[in-house]
Amino acid sequence: MLRRMRRAGSRFCPRLPAFPRAARAAALLALPVIFGGWLSGPQSTLDTEGPVAESQRHLFYTTLWVTVVIFVLVASVLAYATIKFRARTSADEHAEPPPQSHGNPLVELTLIGLSVAALVVIAIPTLRGIMYTYDVPEAERAGAYEVTATGFQWWFKFDYPAEEVELPNNAGRAPLTVANELVIPAGRAVRIDLRAYDVIHSFWVPKLAGKVDMIPNRGNHLWLKADRPGYYWGQCAEFCGESHAVMRFRVIALAADEFAAWLENQKHNARDTAAQSAGDNNDTAPAARVQFAAYEKIPRNTPGWSADFDADPLVNWRRQQEPRPAGSPPADAALIARGRALFTEKTCITCHTIRGHHIGGAPFAPDLTHVATRTTIAGGLLENTGANLHRWITDPDGVKPGNKMWRGVGGMSGYTVRDDDNTLDWRTHIAVTAPEAAALVAYLQSLK
Ligand code: CUA
Repeated sequence: MLRRMRRAGSRFCPRLPAFPRAARAAALLALPVIFGGWLSGPQSTLDTEGPVAESQRHLFYTTLWVTVVIFVLVASVLAYATIKFRARTSADEHAEPPPQSHGNPLVELTLIGLSVAALVVIAIPTLRGIMYTYDVPEAERAGAYEVTATGFQWWFKFDYPAEEVELPNNAGRAPLTVANELVIPAGRAVRIDLRAYDVIHSFWVPKLAGKVDMIPNRGNHLWLKADRPGYYWGQCAEFCGESHAVMRFRVIALAADEFAAWLENQKHNARDTAAQSAGDNNDTAPAARVQFAAYEKIPRNTPGWSADFDADPLVNWRRQQEPRPAGSPPADAALIARGRALFTEKTCITCHTIRGHHIGGAPFAPDLTHVATRTTIAGGLLENTGANLHRWITDPDGVKPGNKMWRGVGGMSGYTVRDDDNTLDWRTHIAVTAPEAAALVAYLQSLK
């Protein structure tokens, strides 16, 4: 019955075979790719802002258009054959097939020739792109700026070999080190040495360049250039463990004088707010004045980023550099001093360096000397606000599951530690009360 109805339908209403729903959905999804201007988010590879990403975008479009032409040709021939030679009656279903052209030398050679031509059209810009993106062009090499990027589970460290700082405890001098926010000069080629501390990561700034893997015990590099000052999103693009998806970073490109001013501030030791009034009187700090009541527990999976910030991120980055942004409450020197003491008491200094304030630090933890000048914390995941610092300090595992600050690393304790009998039981090593967290937040926010 159903079959009869279908046959009747097709006789009275001849039409093209209906495309499956999935094919229609795929076609709809492909439209914005073809009209790339629609995809202009912070991680868009189609809305580029530097020559390396631009060459990669050109290669994408060359490949896309060649394959679109092939698709249209093949699909047209297929559609033509499907419509013209379809079985209209049951007699057609048992008829002899139409004459076949298989083995026709003209057709075969034409198809081979067209395929080779398509490959050549794609291969020429591909080879040119590989050579161009591999290293800084000869003409720009002398003026290129060099940095080193190292991937850790799950954050990025950036070293500036040309900029030296005084290490704590008279340990000599070392390159300036920052975390999660790579600040570069705009309009100038930047060559980035890529390294990995633990597992394979991948360095990717969609609007500027990428992706190149960061591989343990193997030197890799890439180069990029930002056409103009801007604030760009970066992302680890190689699965590297449970928090891979939240391993992010930012690239901030600045004009030459602003970049020099930023470097100068970063090279200084940590800012000393406590010296003004609180002195060493940490134990009697007036805890009642703290703002900890404002900090609430933020549930897991709450986004750590606000649309307000993203509306004009470079302007907001600049505001973050100001020691006292307009409208901010006066610094609570006593609270900051309490936080500074807690940074030692809670063993934060075992891993984190704060030059000028604390001796120590480990090579696998972010340098926090100027953490308050960054717009992000927790591996570029959270906007650097008091509420988010509080969230990160009180619930690191809830923000970035499995992180080493929580679990410990190489026999060193994090917030948790294995039980004495070395079973799989974990016990708390670092406990932070609400007033303590507020003091730590105040201290970290003073580090401009
Ligand atoms: Cu690092 Cu994915």
